[in-house]
Amino acid sequence: MFWRIALFLLSQLAPALAIWFLYAGVHREALALLAALVGCHVWLALDSMRGWRLLKWLRSGDTTQIPLGSGYWGEVFDRARKLVRSRDRVLAESDKRLQEFLAAMQASPNGVVLLDREGRIEWFNQTAAGHFGLDASRDLLQHLGNLVRDPGFAAYFSTRDFKKDVVMPGRNSTSSKPVRLSVHMHPYGEGRSLMLSHDITALDQAEAMRRDFVANVSHEIRTPLTVLAGFVETLQSLPLKEVERMRYLGLMEQQAQRMQTLVSDLLTLSRLEGSPLPPAQEWHAAALLMAQCEQDAHDLSTLLWSDPQGLSFQTDGVMEIAGSASELLSAMFNLIGNAIRYSPPDKPISVRWSRLPHGGAVFSVRDQGTGIAPEHIPRLTERFYRVDRSRSRETGGTGLGLAIVKHVAQRHGAELSIESAPGQGSCFSISFPPQRVRVRADALGADTAPQAAAALIGA
Ligand SMILES: Nc1ncnc2c1ncn2[C@@H]1O[C@H](COP(=O)(O)OP(=O)(O)OP(=O)(O)O)[C@@H](O)[C@H]1O
Ligand SMILES: [Mg+2]
Repeated sequence: MFWRIALFLLSQLAPALAIWFLYAGVHREALALLAALVGCHVWLALDSMRGWRLLKWLRSGDTTQIPLGSGYWGEVFDRARKLVRSRDRVLAESDKRLQEFLAAMQASPNGVVLLDREGRIEWFNQTAAGHFGLDASRDLLQHLGNLVRDPGFAAYFSTRDFKKDVVMPGRNSTSSKPVRLSVHMHPYGEGRSLMLSHDITALDQAEAMRRDFVANVSHEIRTPLTVLAGFVETLQSLPLKEVERMRYLGLMEQQAQRMQTLVSDLLTLSRLEGSPLPPAQEWHAAALLMAQCEQDAHDLSTLLWSDPQGLSFQTDGVMEIAGSASELLSAMFNLIGNAIRYSPPDKPISVRWSRLPHGGAVFSVRDQGTGIAPEHIPRLTERFYRVDRSRSRETGGTGLGLAIVKHVAQRHGAELSIESAPGQGSCFSISFPPQRVRVRADALGADTAPQAAAALIGA
């Protein structure tokens, strides 16, 4: 400021003194005064010019083209520039924060929609776009009520009672593939709202499955229990002959056995779901597993049919399977048991363990029994699913066998496939990946060693 006043005085004094000392004629004082006045105006013009440049720069808003200057205005320029720069930095920083925040909301698995006071859409993430079919180039600043037209949501949105959420169908919901959304509004700021949407289809399905499961289990247990209770009542109230009493007790035993099978299958399933994966280093000879099933299969066939089916068992080479022996046996016997139960006694059943060209192995059970219609095949591995409930009950089936087989297969990295046609029989097979299968040459006798070596080369 000192220099500014000094310069101002100098701009007047310098021309006045110059006239004073250089000119000695008439009107010397008046001319000196005029020179001081001219100096003052020149200073004022130059000063205004620099002030105007600053104003022009500030008005332009272009912070990159910074006018340089010295002295008083130079300092004003400098300080204004620093202020503008620090404001730019703060703006850039808050913009970065905003972008990071929006990116986090974008990454959210929930749908997020920001609404202004009038309920117009200010921003939404990709998940919300998918849930409600929104398009950023079309729907921003549109009223949400005009875009989401579900009646349940419309009522929720208009009453503005946002204490609870509302459940509505998703945009891509169809009767065969329903999508359920839970939507909740959260008011914030001055009249604004944050809308969160959450896909609850899987939860709904899990809940429905749980309900079905409980209903199925109760139903399956209720039937033998009712029969048992009936027999108990008969035994208590009627004087029966020894033969009749023994017959009733036999029937009661059957029902008790059925409940026992059901409980044991349920326990197997829950064990399969909760236990760690079967070990990949525990090897079991396929022939040994087969031998165990063979005996049980003959027993079952003899029990069910007075004239047992022709059962053939075949195991290729000396093959070993990695995994849990008890799980493998349970899956194998479930398939063999089904073939025995759902085939008439005069139809043969063939059970095989064979190697696949890529090194894996397949366990297959082929029968020429009743066969299964194509519409039932995709549902066979559902719990309690039976093609013919009454027939299955007659044969003691609970509908859990194939669910167990599928679980066991999955846990061993294997795949269950079903080929069947009504009246022509069925083939159920479990294909194991190469890492679960090996052939051990040292386990063979001398006569079979070349066979194993060939199998190894094949792998
Ligand atoms: N080999 C087969 N031939 C014809 N139908 C079959 C065969 N295997 C299974 N099914 C059908 O698939 C249904 C489901 O089989 P699954 O093994 O899961 O149950 P289940 O045999 O009824 O009872 P369990 O739990 O005792 O095995 C059976 O009820 C039967 O209708
Ligand atoms: Mg079965």
